[in-house]
Amino acid sequence: MLIKKRTGIEIPSSEITPEHLYHSRRQFMKGAAALSASALLAAACSPQAADVPRGSADSGDAADQAPGEVSTTTDELGDPLNDYDDVISYNNYYEFTTDKDTVAFMAEDFVTSPWQVEVGGMVRNPGVYDIEDLRTKFDQEERIYRLRCVEAWSMVIPWMGFPLSKLLAEVEPFPEATHVRFETIYDPEQLPGQKRGGFKWPYVEGLRLDEAQHDLAILATGLYGKELLPQNGAPVRLVVPWKYGFKSIKSIVKIELVDYQPTSLWMDAAPNEYGFYANVNPEVPHPRWSQATERRIGELGRRETLKFNGYEEQVAGLYAGEDLRENF
Ligand code: MTE
Repeated sequence: MLIKKRTGIEIPSSEITPEHLYHSRRQFMKGAAALSASALLAAACSPQAADVPRGSADSGDAADQAPGEVSTTTDELGDPLNDYDDVISYNNYYEFTTDKDTVAFMAEDFVTSPWQVEVGGMVRNPGVYDIEDLRTKFDQEERIYRLRCVEAWSMVIPWMGFPLSKLLAEVEPFPEATHVRFETIYDPEQLPGQKRGGFKWPYVEGLRLDEAQHDLAILATGLYGKELLPQNGAPVRLVVPWKYGFKSIKSIVKIELVDYQPTSLWMDAAPNEYGFYANVNPEVPHPRWSQATERRIGELGRRETLKFNGYEEQVAGLYAGEDLRENF
């Protein structure tokens, strides 16, 4: 069942663009983006080069898919949704490649069905969920969130999914459980990046239990009214909008309730650069670049980065009294 539910400030229905106007506006924007794209430099894959301007990338077949219906054209701050083509063609998915512009191509044949997610650890009701169970058992909602990458680029994405808290409620964590640990599929034959050294595969992420239970944290199964494509983490991924994008782990096969702070792939690779919390914070620079501003994909110029990525009102209470520099 599809529930259209927005978080944050509600946009009056009078301001929602009717679908036919929305689509013709998209066609117009596509044309404009293609024009400006030719004048822009391509983005490079390294974080150091992340603030190079870019427009729409042409990633071949996947980018030709038309997006489905969404309820509005902006987020609650009034910022336009990113173009569907950008969302599916500019990606971080190191298991395929570190080149954002070719992830979609590399991931084209990734098998996402059948797919199961094991949910266990310190819970009363452990279980193995088929992806279809997750799609039908939990009402799928639209959530329009800003995604702020630690590399200082961002997008506004209309996700489809359901609150992680609903799944957690069903498995009933034991009182001793303090954290949730997530794992991406490990399959080096399909994910050639996992054959490369330098990282401890599979990709692992973690949240404190109270963070995981916050209503803004969702498991996404789609975007722009369509099922997720492999490059975006099909068939199911985490989305935690107040944290840097690397916390939003893709293609999840395992969710475990534990009584320790999990070590993520990035903490393991570079503990002085990537902390467990990774809350978006313009006041705490990455050791190698500032986090004060960001480039919204598809825009020229930079915008100020918002504390907790603009979700401060909703999530600051989770960290009351904590030192956000120490807990970076
Ligand atoms: N999950 C896995 N398994 N592997 C990855 O490389 N990259 C992360 C995150 N989840 C990543 C991942 C990073 S750095 C970002 S910014 C987001 O996915 C990007 O999501 P998107 O490609 O859908 O925009």
